[in-house]
Amino acid sequence: MDYIAIVDLGSQYTHLIHKRLTYMSVNSILTPEFDQNVYNAKAVIVSGSPLSALRDDIKEIEENVYNIINMGKPLLGICFGHQLLSLMFGGKIINNPEYGRTKIYLKKRNELLYNLDNIEEVWMSHGDCVNEAGDAEVNAVSERGCISAIKIPNVNVFGVQFHPEVSHTRKGELILKNFARLSGFAINEISINEKVSNYYANELYDIKSMYKGGKVVSAVSGGIDSTVATYIVMKAIGSKNVISVLIDHGLFRENEVDEAIKNLNKIGINPIYINASNDFITRLEGVESCEERRKIIGELFAEKLNKIITEEAASYLIQGTTYPDVIESGKTKHSQKIKSHHNVGGIPKWFDVQLIEPLKGLYKDEIRELGSILGIPKEILSRHPFPGPGLAVRIIGKFTNEKLDLLRKADKIVSDELKSRGIYNSLWQSVVSISESWVGVKGDEREEGYIINVRLVTSNDGMTADYYLPSNDVVDDISHRITNEVKKITAVSFITSTKPPATIEPC
Ligand code: XMP
Repeated sequence: MDYIAIVDLGSQYTHLIHKRLTYMSVNSILTPEFDQNVYNAKAVIVSGSPLSALRDDIKEIEENVYNIINMGKPLLGICFGHQLLSLMFGGKIINNPEYGRTKIYLKKRNELLYNLDNIEEVWMSHGDCVNEAGDAEVNAVSERGCISAIKIPNVNVFGVQFHPEVSHTRKGELILKNFARLSGFAINEISINEKVSNYYANELYDIKSMYKGGKVVSAVSGGIDSTVATYIVMKAIGSKNVISVLIDHGLFRENEVDEAIKNLNKIGINPIYINASNDFITRLEGVESCEERRKIIGELFAEKLNKIITEEAASYLIQGTTYPDVIESGKTKHSQKIKSHHNVGGIPKWFDVQLIEPLKGLYKDEIRELGSILGIPKEILSRHPFPGPGLAVRIIGKFTNEKLDLLRKADKIVSDELKSRGIYNSLWQSVVSISESWVGVKGDEREEGYIINVRLVTSNDGMTADYYLPSNDVVDDISHRITNEVKKITAVSFITSTKPPATIEPC
């Protein structure tokens, strides 16, 4: 079986290369090392990395890349991979960062850039930039003057500074198709519906085969992942043995719990409701670091869940782990932790249950598609993703109950305004956060107020994001309503940064 080996040197996006190739029916293997998988591959992609080709010891990587090139295999270097190739062929690198949306100007076409326009919009995420190409041919240059695409003469070896694998690079998929084609692969596009339907059939079979009887616990929140995961297991083994539980950590948005229960009931999921808000809020009061809050919430949540598992003598626990969670948790030696928000590894070792993870091969857009095939109500499917630790990761600076309360009120105003204007459903997320502080004057009095930050983003998968700025009247109404209706809010800001560099949640 022919395949492309993707050497994962730690970029946040490497697994998306695998996703894009899967939709073309091109086999690929992700590997963290230049191992036998790489040497046996028909073609090789060297990913981005937090490593710096300028500062880190990259001799071993270079030797491997030379070997692959000498074997005559097609090779594509992305981001760090592009810088590495440039250095290997006599080029120079300087520090010149580019993040997010960037224009590139095509200078010379080749098979990799076939069918691209003269000016293309791509997504960048790098600190170092190639400013001399050495023996390599320069194919494109960015608006900031960085050499953003190269080809090594006489061999099928290419470098691109930007990320063709992210959905925000408009012709990224085409570039990967071109690379697969020039490497000798036939492209056979499959639809999301096709992929997800096959996945579902296999998953039902796997769950039925692994289930040996006994009770299955599922922690639901009304969000897409936990709902679809629970529903699939109910379809596979029947609903009688599935016990769902909604643990209220007090960090949900206004009315969210009631709405969640109502929507879940519509598809036969009737969760036991446990109000644990006081325990969570008390433990979080005064905690400054978001990572510390995530840890506290994770541990307390596990304790509460374990109580149910023990009481019910359950043998299984359903987890809404997704494919990016799996990939990112098994990260390579080069990757860096940005935030610890993944499910995998979140279940403490002392849990004496077997995990059922029906979504572990899917991305968010695929989970939505599967949900719609299964007839999950659109109120659940169209909900914006909401982080497990809830509003706790939207409080900047010290966590206080007061800030939580103000944030919840402001968030409600923002989502009401977006929904009533038909904007909400076109966004990936509307992230409202609170930070300190802005001196206000209300009436004739000074007020030490808080700032509400509104971050509206569009995205396909949450890996990269573009900001959405509403029209003046919407900005005006949201801002005006918040400062008038929510006590102690003296300023409202709209965040206009892409991801990268700004992650979607503020911390
Ligand atoms: P960032 O902030 O990393 O967010 O750009 C990417 C996506 O992940 C969500 N997110 C979380 N989800 N627990 C979660 O379950 C978390 O701690 C967490 N932090 C971020 C975020 O909402 C976005 O969809």
